[in-house]
Amino acid sequence: MTRAGIALAFIVYLMSSLQAGAEAAKTEKDGKWETGDGSPTYNITADGTVDWYTFSGFRRYHSECHTCHGPDGEGSSYAPALVQSVKALSYPEFMLIVATGRQEVDTAKQSKMPALGNNLNVSCYIEDIYVYLKARGDGVVPRGRPAKRAEKPASAEKHEKDCFGDK
Ligand code: HEC
Repeated sequence: MTRAGIALAFIVYLMSSLQAGAEAAKTEKDGKWETGDGSPTYNITADGTVDWYTFSGFRRYHSECHTCHGPDGEGSSYAPALVQSVKALSYPEFMLIVATGRQEVDTAKQSKMPALGNNLNVSCYIEDIYVYLKARGDGVVPRGRPAKRAEKPASAEKHEKDCFGDK
C-alpha cells in the first residue's frame, strides 16, 4: 500500500470508529434518550415500540403544528416539511425558531411561523416534538399514530406538572 493509501485507510478506520462511538453514546434515563452531545433523541425497539417521548411528540405535533406543517410532518403548500427541516437543524436551532418564530422576507410568498415560546402546550413538549420529527425524518417511524409505545415515565408526569405550574 502507498503511504497515501495507508493514511486514507487510517482515516476511514477513524471515521467508522467515531461513528460507532456516536451510536454507543446514546444514553437513557427514566425512559428518555439522548445522543452523546446531550440532544434529545428517540428510541425504537426491534418490535417497533416507540419511547414515550416520541409518542407524546406525535400527539403534540398533531395538536399544535400539523394545521400548518401538514400531517406527519410532511409539509403543506403553506409551511415546510419539518421531517426534512430537522435533518439540518440542531435541537437548539429548532427550539429557537419555534420559540421566536420566523418570517420569510423579500419573497412574493407571505408565510409566517408564529412565535410559540409562550404556548405551554408547545414549550412543555418541545423535546417530544423534536424527537418525533427526528424519528420521522430518519425513516424509523411510519406515518400515522405509532402502534406501540412505552409506558409514560414518572419523570414525564413530574415534568408536566412543573412546566404547567400545577402544584
Ligand atoms: C400558523 C401556521 C404555523 C404553525 C401553527 C406552526 N408553524 Fe412552523 N412554520 C410556519 C411557516 C409558514 C414556516 C416558514 C417560515 C418562513 O417563511 O421561513 C414555518 C417554519 C418552521 C420551522 C423552520 C423550518 C425550516 O426549514 O427552516 C420550524 C422548525 C417550525 N416551523 C416548527 C414548528 C413547530 C414545531 C410547530 C408546532 C409546535 C409549528 N412550527 C407550528 C407556520 C406554522
